[in-house]
Amino acid sequence: MDKKNFISIAIDGPSASGKSTVAKLLASRLNFLYVDTGAMYRAYTLAVLSSSLNAKNEKESDSLIGKIEINFDENNHVCLNGKDVSKEIRENNVADNVSYIASYKNIRLFLVSLQRKIANNKNIVMDGRDIGTYVLKDAEVKIFLSADVEERARRRFSENKEKGIDTSYEECLENIKKRDYIDSHRDFCPLRPASDAIHIDSTNLSIEEVVSKMEEIIKKKGYLL
Ligand code: CDP
Repeated sequence: MDKKNFISIAIDGPSASGKSTVAKLLASRLNFLYVDTGAMYRAYTLAVLSSSLNAKNEKESDSLIGKIEINFDENNHVCLNGKDVSKEIRENNVADNVSYIASYKNIRLFLVSLQRKIANNKNIVMDGRDIGTYVLKDAEVKIFLSADVEERARRRFSENKEKGIDTSYEECLENIKKRDYIDSHRDFCPLRPASDAIHIDSTNLSIEEVVSKMEEIIKKKGYLL
């Protein structure tokens, strides 16, 4: 079937802006597949750390390209070499190293090719940093979701608390600022809004309000029922 029979929705934005939560909810309401590309970079990072490789060394980190398997199971949980690692990838050691891994071009090309394969011939909501600018640059709908950095740190802090991950608010703030910097300053596919993306600032919006705004945007473009 022609790709044009399917709709792609690209949601990009900085860390803890709420992308995953709203993208998941939006996808389930639309009955679209949801793909969390950040989980794939996190799974690759976990593979590097568990192989005792140095995540700050590009050559060492590149050595796993093509040798590991990253996919999503029937519950949409990310798997590394067939094992559900959706919990481990949220740990602090992964959060601390993932932006180094995501700055390496060959690792990005490896994961982008998996992402495009997953998205092929499907109605999809995909979230990340470079979805509207690179991975799915022909996406029908592109949204750039942001929020103040302090609000994002508050959200990540309470999310971690719920998941039993031990971090302080200050640590969350520092990690988010560091990742914002690395993600937006890398050479290949830096975090930035696509020229045709619609911006939503979620600082003072509830999850429901953000999802409603997205549905409105999709409707206005003529893609919603
Ligand atoms: O959940 P959170 O907002 O903390 O981040 P994530 O979506 O899980 O992504 C983790 C990291 O992966 C980001 O900080 C980026 O370094 C990287 N990433 C990327 O470079 N490109 C993507 N499409 C998705 C994630």
